[in-house]
Amino acid sequence: MFAGKKRYLTYRKRDGQSCPLSYRERKGWKKYTFNRSDLSVRKSGRMGVTMEELAINGGKPVRETKIFYGHQYIDEADVEAVSQVLVSEALTCGPKIGELEEKLCRLTGAKYAVAVSNGTAALHIACLAAGIGEGDEVITTPMTFAASANCARYCGGMPVFADIDPKTYNISPEEVEKKVTAHTKAVVAVDFTGQAAKLDELLHICRKNGLFLIEDAAHSIGTKYKGKPVGSIADMTTFSFHPVKTVTGGEGGAVLTDNRELYEKLLLYRTHGITRNPSLMQRESEGPWYYEMLDLGWNYRITDIQAALLISQLDKLPLFSRRRKEIVAKYNEAFQKIPELFVQEEIPESDTTRHLYILRIRPEKLSVDRLGFFRALEAENICCNVHYIPVYYMPYYEKLGYKRGLCPEAEKLYEEELSLPLYYSLTDEDVDSVIRGVEKVVAAYRKP
Ligand SMILES: Cc1ncc(COP(=O)(O)O)c(C=O)c1O
Repeated sequence: MFAGKKRYLTYRKRDGQSCPLSYRERKGWKKYTFNRSDLSVRKSGRMGVTMEELAINGGKPVRETKIFYGHQYIDEADVEAVSQVLVSEALTCGPKIGELEEKLCRLTGAKYAVAVSNGTAALHIACLAAGIGEGDEVITTPMTFAASANCARYCGGMPVFADIDPKTYNISPEEVEKKVTAHTKAVVAVDFTGQAAKLDELLHICRKNGLFLIEDAAHSIGTKYKGKPVGSIADMTTFSFHPVKTVTGGEGGAVLTDNRELYEKLLLYRTHGITRNPSLMQRESEGPWYYEMLDLGWNYRITDIQAALLISQLDKLPLFSRRRKEIVAKYNEAFQKIPELFVQEEIPESDTTRHLYILRIRPEKLSVDRLGFFRALEAENICCNVHYIPVYYMPYYEKLGYKRGLCPEAEKLYEEELSLPLYYSLTDEDVDSVIRGVEKVVAAYRKP
């Protein structure tokens, strides 16, 4: 039905290079308009510095249209891939699942991949495969989405929070080591923002103490650690394919491992604990319909529709990765020059495909706090987000006895951070407008 159709029909220029227009853009669903800030009202600020009136105070915003912190990119090839599945026999449990798993293995160098319905399911079955149970402890970072800690709770275990490195914002191996007890079973290390955690140090701690290292790579598909793609390093690596992530299936996730035994368990937990593999069955087969449920599992299957979208999205990973790196480089270059801001430090071991760009303010140098900064940027039509509220601040964890003050570095980061727009289809003009918006807000609130 789609045979012979061109994959990319239209192109626009970016940095002198052609790049495909997204499906939305071609359909005209969104118009990109841009407002040059040099048309904005300017006034003389403190110490003779020219300062523009902030939009929050009635000035002209740096851009006319709102820009958000994350957005998926869907092109004609994605639409075609999904459409082909929709008119095929198998909407789920079909050939696209295996194809996606093979592609993830090729991409990462991992031996086995198990595709699931989302990143949370991936973390849950990874914890089950690691044998987490009642009373076990799982060390993780508080600077993450709740799922990185909840996965321990699903299995009856307890998350133990280890503080972050104040410069890279990733879990600190030294802090992890301090938290190891006789009850610890695993470490869930998040590659926060896409930057790989210190995986060698963490692996060393895990090997020394007989722990599983589960790498929550929800942010870091495309990242390499010491030249190796994430997915092939930890005992198990989990991905999330939510639309704000670098590649998306609408929803989706995966667990990758080199360990056959873990792989067999992951397959079982994905599908109700049911197997059709005769070599795993405990009784004689009763006929072609026969299957056995060997353990309690879940329905965490991904559909062929999602898998097809992901296969197509993964073709664009190098493109996505390159553009995200370009944007990060532009932001870093601009913000490194501003003493009121702190730029996230990169470890040389990580060749990072960044999912999030964290802008960290130095409140002691500004007459505004993070909320005021956030609101001022929002009025400039730059809509940010905050990643993350420390997980143990959540009322659920408070009820379990976790108290504020556990991880001071993560708590301090939470007070000072916001996430700027970062996604493939940002144009250079969009990026420039974000930079100008940040500069404008800093200038307005700079302490004398
Ligand atoms: C670090 C981290 N881990 C796990 C997840 C859960 O992934 P999903 O939303 O696909 O369930 C997310 C999602 O945002 C995440 O950011």
